[in-house]
Amino acid sequence: MIEHANARALELFGVFDPSDLSEESLSQIVSGEDFHALWALLAAAATGARPQLINISARTLSGDHVPVRVGARLVAPGSIRLVFAAIEAFDQTASRLRASERRYRQLFHAMPIALLRIDSRGSLAMFEEPRRQGFEDLDAYLRANPAAFERALDTICVAEANEHAETMFGDGTPRSMLRSVRVFWQARPDTFRRILRARYAGHRNVIEETVVCGVAGQRVPVLFSMAFPTDDARVGNSLIGMIDMSGQMRAEAELRRTQARFANAARTSVTNELAASIAHEVSQPLSSIATNGGTALRWLSKSPPDLTRAVSRLQRILDDAERANGVISRMRDMSSGVMVERSNVDLNAVVREALLILNDEIHSKAVEVRLHLDEGLPTLSGDHVQLTQVMVNLVINAMQAMEKSGSVRPTIDIITRLLDDGWLALEVKDSGPGIGAAHLTRIFDSFFTTKSAGLGIGLAVSRSIVEAHDGSLLASNGGLGGAVFTVRLPTIVLAAEKIAALPGDVGQVFLAQTRG
Ligand SMILES: Nc1ncnc2c1ncn2[C@@H]1O[C@H](COP(=O)(O)OP(=O)(O)OP(=O)(O)O)[C@@H](O)[C@H]1O
Ligand SMILES: [Mg+2]
Repeated sequence: MIEHANARALELFGVFDPSDLSEESLSQIVSGEDFHALWALLAAAATGARPQLINISARTLSGDHVPVRVGARLVAPGSIRLVFAAIEAFDQTASRLRASERRYRQLFHAMPIALLRIDSRGSLAMFEEPRRQGFEDLDAYLRANPAAFERALDTICVAEANEHAETMFGDGTPRSMLRSVRVFWQARPDTFRRILRARYAGHRNVIEETVVCGVAGQRVPVLFSMAFPTDDARVGNSLIGMIDMSGQMRAEAELRRTQARFANAARTSVTNELAASIAHEVSQPLSSIATNGGTALRWLSKSPPDLTRAVSRLQRILDDAERANGVISRMRDMSSGVMVERSNVDLNAVVREALLILNDEIHSKAVEVRLHLDEGLPTLSGDHVQLTQVMVNLVINAMQAMEKSGSVRPTIDIITRLLDDGWLALEVKDSGPGIGAAHLTRIFDSFFTTKSAGLGIGLAVSRSIVEAHDGSLLASNGGLGGAVFTVRLPTIVLAAEKIAALPGDVGQVFLAQTRG
């Protein structure tokens, strides 16, 4: 009976479970002449004679006959070790391996996602030092040894790239991607840092949305995933898969633009409606003023003049003028009664959103917008939508002013920064004609406009919004002639300090006021 069979024997006889084989007697594996030869071999081995080799044919469980070379040796009294070596077995195994390798390779190259095989032996070597020094978190080590991070960027390299990866990140020349990973992480070294950290911490993989640079400088937004094999033999290899997200991001940006266009259209129609209702409410008292004026004139020019009637008409004129004034001041109240829905607002995000809303106009008017945004700005407590509205108003005004004056290279500079006194400042500078001295004091008045189609409410509303945020909006002319609008807003910290400085329950009153 066969008492034990090792893994190779199982493979040879095509069996997965050793119990399948141990139930078989040798006579079922080897038959006829070959059985006699095997028996003679066993008998010789049992006497302790020198081991010999014979070639016979063995039957596998699936019924195939495999040519094998067999040796027998007495290992203990009553126990003989039989060694079967399939003559073609190694060839077969090798060819099976080659076939499976071919399949893997075809799959690797044909997959419609970018795949990279990474030789990360460099990172394994670099992990030895922090482990020796007892660092649990690689970040702390990298902070103390920035050079180690740079070394990892240079020593970890791409060993293989599939066609899709070459198309996405290569420069068209063969093997252009087989290099150290440094170039790929130019835009997002933070992702690379997270990969190293995950690997150091023994995680199995890393998945995130990031941006990977190509060798020709292209930047591709991708869904990135990297797997670290745990199998000892392949530890120096890892596999990266990347799906190009630029199409999806384009679709999302397009969606945002469409939403912005809708929002803008809604706003325009609200403004148009407002204009129509102003016109309607004011035109009625105006026309009755005109009629009463005419009538009063007639009564006065009579001889003798009918003063009583004239006075009554003049009184009506005064009443109508009062009514028209009432309409205007109601409108003014409406535009200044700003309700602020507060949340944490990133001023730079406000700028970007406004530019997104105006994107089409900026391009069609060939305006160059230059951003000088301080990326480390603290947040403020405010209404993102309303502040965006302010930005939109300022940029539209700038574009209109430059268009009217025929500015050759219409340029808008937008600057954000944190001032020394802890306030946030936002400046919008244009290359237009600037604001005439006579107008400077009036431009924030409701309904002041120098445009034929203007309503003159943009700046009035903008100032109300900024003031409802406890900030200020000022206009001036820049050194180069164009207008400069400066918004100052308190940061969250300043706002909190202001509340804290108020005595007792006055803080509540302050909050109520700022809400509108
Ligand atoms: N960047 C600028 N350069 C020069 N003048 C400006 C600028 N921004 C505003 N003004 C002047 O201030 C006036 C008032 O601007 P405001 O935005 O309040 O109203 P408007 O643009 O005329 O009309 P709308 O209500 O449609 O915005 C403008 O008519 C214009 O004369
Ligand atoms: Mg305007």
